[in-house]
Amino acid sequence: MAVTDDIKARLDIMDVVAAHVPLQRSGRSYKGLCPFHSEKTPSFYVFPDRQSWRCFGACATGGDLFNFIMRTEHLEFTEALRRLAERAGVELPNRREKAQRSQSHEVNDEASAYFRRLIGSAQGSDARAYLERRGLSATAISTFELGLSPEDGHSLGDYLAAKGFQPEQAATAGLVNPADHGGYRDLFRGRLMFPIRDRDGSLGGFGARALDDSIPKYLNSPQSPSFNKGSILYGLHLASDAITSSGTAVVVEGYMDVIAAHEHGFKNVVASMGTALTSDQAGMLRSMASSIVVALDPDAAGQEATLRGLEAAWGVFHHEQVRSGSSVALYQRPQRPELKIAPLPVGRDPDELIRHDPQEWADLIEGAQPLMDYLFEALGKRFDLGTSEGKQQIFNLLRPLIAAIPNERHFEQDRYSERLAQLLEVTPERLRTLLGRSPSHANARGPSQRNRMPDRGSQAASAPAFNPQDQDPLEDHCLALLLQETELGQLAPSLRMEHFRRPENREVFAYWAHGDDPELMDEDLRANWDRLLAKPLPPVDRKQRETALLDSIGRLEARYLRNLKTEEAEASSTELDKEYEGEVLLRNERMKELLADKVR
Ligand code: UTP
Ligand code: MN
Repeated sequence: MAVTDDIKARLDIMDVVAAHVPLQRSGRSYKGLCPFHSEKTPSFYVFPDRQSWRCFGACATGGDLFNFIMRTEHLEFTEALRRLAERAGVELPNRREKAQRSQSHEVNDEASAYFRRLIGSAQGSDARAYLERRGLSATAISTFELGLSPEDGHSLGDYLAAKGFQPEQAATAGLVNPADHGGYRDLFRGRLMFPIRDRDGSLGGFGARALDDSIPKYLNSPQSPSFNKGSILYGLHLASDAITSSGTAVVVEGYMDVIAAHEHGFKNVVASMGTALTSDQAGMLRSMASSIVVALDPDAAGQEATLRGLEAAWGVFHHEQVRSGSSVALYQRPQRPELKIAPLPVGRDPDELIRHDPQEWADLIEGAQPLMDYLFEALGKRFDLGTSEGKQQIFNLLRPLIAAIPNERHFEQDRYSERLAQLLEVTPERLRTLLGRSPSHANARGPSQRNRMPDRGSQAASAPAFNPQDQDPLEDHCLALLLQETELGQLAPSLRMEHFRRPENREVFAYWAHGDDPELMDEDLRANWDRLLAKPLPPVDRKQRETALLDSIGRLEARYLRNLKTEEAEASSTELDKEYEGEVLLRNERMKELLADKVR
């Protein structure tokens, strides 16, 4: 969150403090009566060069303009951030995003209205005939708000412009693209339009089907402020009531599959839109249903990509503790949904199946098998267990799933490893050794790390070790260790808020230290928490991580103490309070200890 730097660069701490405390010059700094405790002689200093303040009196605290405002005006960090940003004329990035998102929603709404009108007009006769051929009722067409995009490549853009939208706004929403010869061109031309709404009903983007055999069959809205394919489930706004009341969510692949299901009264069906369920999508369903059934094309079952998708969902459902914090109780959810598989008959998609025989579909969903049971069976059939190659393939596919079961769930882990041992015809001991040696176990961050990374997070996963987003590598490294490695928390009793220079890191640390629920964070702060949680750490063993953490804690404290010394020296014209002198002595001792530690 470089926004705090931006604010600090634009505001002078002198102005901010002077509004609360009358100051007088004292060498290169300024002093006044401390606003945080009552005193007769000034021991409160402001250092304009360093843009910091410190009380050398009874309260012995200090900091930057953020914690100054928080303390004097009794504000939460987020409120302080908001006020200072306003004062500095800095726009908060998340607010900018929010504004862009709602603007994209508006443009999409207008476009959708246009598409719907067009499909009802004379120009829409082919599209209507197509839908009729595919068996869609008028009710389905209106419930799913299907429309038609104009063929000529400019009518939508013209229409949106007439409605008062700037071309840039339509482009941000992904509806038009700048054209080579200048001007803009509609992205969707002569296609059947499927509006894709978020769970809350706002219109994120579109799927657009060709009415003939053109490639691609479907064109989807590009990634935009309102649309991220991997974190939307098609149909969820229409399905959520049925999902919560039935306790089951059914995930299919396609738009047409969802519509067919809903038409036939299976209203708990949503689509992952052509890809395996992402962990973001799984996360959305997690709190709504006790059972998630994935309708799976049997050809896909043995494919690496499908398995990795299921693994992501499996991981999400297995971890009560989605984010690690200081307390294990964080994120405890009342239920952990079961992930099940309903294998589709070869070559039939749900749309055909449902329209052909709704009862067959109902039976298929009813008979869905728990993921692991299904995989043991399906993979056993698919690969040749008579060869070591086949065994290796099964082992490679199932290992990450077993590894994703948290350690405290011994029995479940044992049950599956025993079954895998049986299938591969090795002893359980031998299998344990194999599992232990597997790369995903050797990786110190383990499977839970993967779960925490939504599809989008793959950016984070592949980020270079030196992340340009690192605003303070030392602080970031320390916090990333604390957040990602729950069990290291006990090593940090001496760490304190003031050891962190960056205000947003101070706040993250405070949340962590109090075991507060990060869900309650404001999104500005949450972005920083998530960044640290997703920060790649070198894959080292537990002992090395402990050392790394202790080292970074020591460095932070040493840096803090050095900083204090500098401020003391600058303010040396004053006589320090008796109480404060005591502090100085203690601190000098501590500094010696830290320096004695050769590493530093
Ligand atoms: P399907 O090819 O199964 O399409 O892709 P469908 O939904 O059954 O459509 P019909 O029955 O052929 O008309 C499943 C889903 O994959 C995504 C879409 O979300 C589609 O609904 N997909 C498919 C794309 O995004 N692009 C494509 O080119 C194809
Ligand atoms: Mn289909």
